[in-house]
Amino acid sequence: MLRLANRRIIVGVTGGIAAYKSAELIRRLKDQGADVRAVMTAAAQEFITPLTLQALSGNPVHTTLLDTEAEAAMGHIELARWGDLILIAPASADFIARLAHGHGNDLLTTLCLAARCPIAVAPAMNQAMWASSANQANLAQLKDRGIHQFGPAEGSQACGDVGLGRMLEATQLADMAADLFPSNILTGRRVVITAGPTREAIDPVRFISNHSSGKMGFALAEAARDAGAQVTLISGPVHLATPERVRRIDVISAQDMLQAALDQSIQTDIFIATAAVADFRPQNSPDQKIKKQDNSGVMTLTLVENPDIVATIARQQPKPFTVGFAAETRDVVNYARQKISRKNLDMIVANDVSRGDIGFNSDENAVTVLWPNGEQVLDLASKHQIARSIVALIAQRLTGQAGG
Ligand code: PMT
Repeated sequence: MLRLANRRIIVGVTGGIAAYKSAELIRRLKDQGADVRAVMTAAAQEFITPLTLQALSGNPVHTTLLDTEAEAAMGHIELARWGDLILIAPASADFIARLAHGHGNDLLTTLCLAARCPIAVAPAMNQAMWASSANQANLAQLKDRGIHQFGPAEGSQACGDVGLGRMLEATQLADMAADLFPSNILTGRRVVITAGPTREAIDPVRFISNHSSGKMGFALAEAARDAGAQVTLISGPVHLATPERVRRIDVISAQDMLQAALDQSIQTDIFIATAAVADFRPQNSPDQKIKKQDNSGVMTLTLVENPDIVATIARQQPKPFTVGFAAETRDVVNYARQKISRKNLDMIVANDVSRGDIGFNSDENAVTVLWPNGEQVLDLASKHQIARSIVALIAQRLTGQAGG
């Protein structure tokens, strides 16, 4: 499937050694079916010629704002309207600063000001420039305005330094560009997702809980929505804004979450359990705060097992396509595979929560997705990226089931 078929992409190229990679980027975007036009700043033309990008894109390259000939062919406002996406790769520190401050002193900045389509920047610069507070403040402004940021990557740089600031590779950028467009692979499907932790009351002021932030579940809700699904998110207590066009039901305890899941799972096509549900709850939770003095230095809590929400949903008839997550600290894939059969799941996402950089509360994740007779590793990426890949795998498996 050509992921960018019928999409029009303006590739903005600014001055930097990574400009040579924009030639490859144009090829990769075209491979995915995109119609590409390149816009080059004056500095970019010091590194790569317009002729190269013209040959690769198959379209004239736009270089100046005040060019009567270019204006006659396609003026800058018309060009801004033409694009479904403006992808600036490489985006130099200078360009990022000019974009952040709303400059309109060359064709590329003017296009960005006039654009109604999404804009993405792929920064490329020296690691010290990347880390500078001015650059970071400019990027924060772009983020606030909804401008996407692709990368940068870490590694050795043309100047000999090592660190963050390398432009991502062309294939990664092309994939990330494709990810910005809704895929419609779940059109007409109803999806219910559990997210976040549960809280199990010890008394009115104390509870048992865990470190789940809800980020993974909320990212999945957005990815399923963008794929065309009607999404209901059942969330434990988290500090996240509700994604647009997603229905949210807030719950506190595992028992509340089970009730909401049972209510919502009727006529649901897909049930995804990302929530970190407390396995146990205190047997008794008095109405009044337990006083320290009532316990002679030691307090004993009796815990009883909570219902297993995802296993309960997987026993429903008709059964939705049921996806679990497995948070494990060792033998991750093995334990996850055992949970597929124990909980009667169609798919499970194995999460290694022993690593500090992924899993609970991180912005990134790296997982192995398992189904009864297959698996796929999803390497370290943002939770949004991982969520989109999981949604794509679910859609593939669903289609496989429908086809027998
Ligand atoms: O929320 P984040 O900070 O983004 O972190 C994401 C995450 C690490 C919480 C998430 O990706 C994850 O791994 N969630 C599953 C956590 C978990 O409870 O794993 P488990 O192996 O204990 O449970 C297996 C499955 O059974 C899970 O789908 C869980 O939702 C479900 N379960 C567990 C117990 C229970 N009583 N009811 C359930 O439905």
